[in-house]
Amino acid sequence: MSESLDLAAFPADFTWGTATSAYQIEGAVAEDGRAPSIWDTFAHTPGRVDNDDHGDVACDHYHRWPEDIALMKRLGADAYRLSIAWPRVLPGGDGPVNAAGLDFYDRLVDGLLDAGITPNVTLYHWDLPQSLQDRGGWTVRETAEHLADYASVVAGRLGDRVTQWATLNEPLCSGWIGHLEGRMAPGLTDLTAAVRASYHLLLAHGLATRAVRAAVPGARIGLVTNHSTVEAASTRPEDIAAATRMDGHTNRWWLDPVYGRGFPTDMRELYGVDLPERPGDLAAIAAPLDWHGLNYYFPATVTDDPRGPVPYAREVRLPDVPRTGMDWQIDAGGLEALLLRLTDEYGVRKLYVTENGSAFADTVSPDGAVHDPDRARYLEQHVSACARAVRKGVPLAGYYAWSLLDNFEWAYGYDKRFGLVHVDYATQVRTVKTSGLRYAEIIRAHRESRA
Ligand code: FCB
Repeated sequence: MSESLDLAAFPADFTWGTATSAYQIEGAVAEDGRAPSIWDTFAHTPGRVDNDDHGDVACDHYHRWPEDIALMKRLGADAYRLSIAWPRVLPGGDGPVNAAGLDFYDRLVDGLLDAGITPNVTLYHWDLPQSLQDRGGWTVRETAEHLADYASVVAGRLGDRVTQWATLNEPLCSGWIGHLEGRMAPGLTDLTAAVRASYHLLLAHGLATRAVRAAVPGARIGLVTNHSTVEAASTRPEDIAAATRMDGHTNRWWLDPVYGRGFPTDMRELYGVDLPERPGDLAAIAAPLDWHGLNYYFPATVTDDPRGPVPYAREVRLPDVPRTGMDWQIDAGGLEALLLRLTDEYGVRKLYVTENGSAFADTVSPDGAVHDPDRARYLEQHVSACARAVRKGVPLAGYYAWSLLDNFEWAYGYDKRFGLVHVDYATQVRTVKTSGLRYAEIIRAHRESRA
């Protein structure tokens, strides 16, 4: 089967991994001193999450992590991208460190290393301590400073064993979806709040980069952003302009400042919100990075929407294209294009695909297996796209499949399953899906080809 994939394109030390995040899998939300995050609050607000699902138990990973490491080993993965729950480590957001919270990650990291799996640690995957939200959350500058302090604490404790660090996961989702669209915590629909939050998130990234470098000599630090390719729905000038605005909103706003170009002028004008800039901020935001993490799921095709919300560009639903269970269009070419863009336009010198995957409505068959050919195909198509990008000179160093496990898919709750491993939430039984077995085969085939 693996003949069809150009695995020889990948360098011998290419990293194959899986990814998760703390709130989506850990559960144990009130254990060992953890305090609530904005996602606990959001999920427990009726109507915010499908079925009013929440992360109180999730995959119970907090207790079952040894079993989950064994699953990673079974897949043959080299690495695991996890996130740390800020409200476990600093329950108040700032102030006293909760030793029991840090101890959990200490055990987890040791367990991974014992299994020969390299941890890639994301400091912030959306679970802001509620106590900081109560003081303004990402709309205030202090939150960025607190993130840097929290980063120092975590790096100080784990930095003797963890070298791969990411500051933020997908600031676009925190900024735009959390503060402008209201579909994620903290659930605001306020352009001024959203623009200020986006600025402070990027500043937090810069300050945390500095903090981790100070705490861990030799740390390899990156930022994880999500992007879509953006096409105009027609050749009408209005649609082409709409595509430029959507590209600014989704891609350039998050990449230009990080790569030293400042915030894009066209978007600053469009938002019309003063940025809370201070001297030195732009330099901090543009701190040199060791790698960039791209999360890719779907492309976007847009049309002009002058009366719609910012950026006045509406996504159109293309007929007759393949889609996942999220209703997201499947287009592996978009992954290749974005990898090339990060390399050619932004000059990124080391890239990882830090998330990529698909949700489908899986069921456990009477034979006990979970047959998910659609997810296996999605995986193959996107690994192929990576191989094509590498052949074209993209310095891609690894691929992390989202996700190791079915988990709490934010506002969609537990109905959307992204795992290579199925989770029965009633029993917490884990079953490796066919796609997981396929991933193991790909990893093995690549390893054999490089031996
Ligand atoms: C990304 C998130 C991740 C997961 C996937 C499906 O936007 O980073 O936590 O929910 O989407």
